[in-house]
Amino acid sequence: MPKRNWIDLPAAGVWKLCPAALWRIMFALLLLCAPQAAGADMIAEGRTIVAEHCTRCHVVPGINPKGGIESTPSFKGMKHLADWRRRFEVFFALPPHPALVTVVGISEERDKSRPAFVQEIKLSVHDLDRILAFVDTIEK
Ligand code: HEC
Repeated sequence: MPKRNWIDLPAAGVWKLCPAALWRIMFALLLLCAPQAAGADMIAEGRTIVAEHCTRCHVVPGINPKGGIESTPSFKGMKHLADWRRRFEVFFALPPHPALVTVVGISEERDKSRPAFVQEIKLSVHDLDRILAFVDTIEK
């Protein structure tokens, strides 16, 4: 009987030869599913962050439709602006937020001489992504 080389191996034999290929396929499938799973988590976490920190002033649909401070733009209203995403990316640098919001690693160190007249809101860069993911789901 002639010696078989790898070309003659039946398909099943290929799997035995390279389980790595199987892993690669499974990993690719995982990658395909991951963004969606992370998306749902991110949205939920963003909602929690917004409920905790932003609804004190902003009206946010589904969280505090009757709350907020009248002069403060509502999240729903801001979704009508073409550049809403940009605004939510940089809001912490726009007044009045610098006085109350610190983004770790981005915001300038809060001036310690400033009176802490409001409770400081400390966010991470990941929190900003989560806020964006949640705001993205708000319907106009
Ligand atoms: C102390 C009240 C207060 C809190 C808390 C607050 N905001 Fe605001 N926000 C304001 C006010 C007032 C404005 C309008 C500023 C203006 O008109 O110049 C504003 C404007 C904005 C804007 C539009 C910025 C622009 O000028 O384009 C965004 C986006 C925003 N806020 C996001 C947030 C998010 C996200 C949070 C929670 C992490 C938050 N805000 C928490 C008061 C607040």
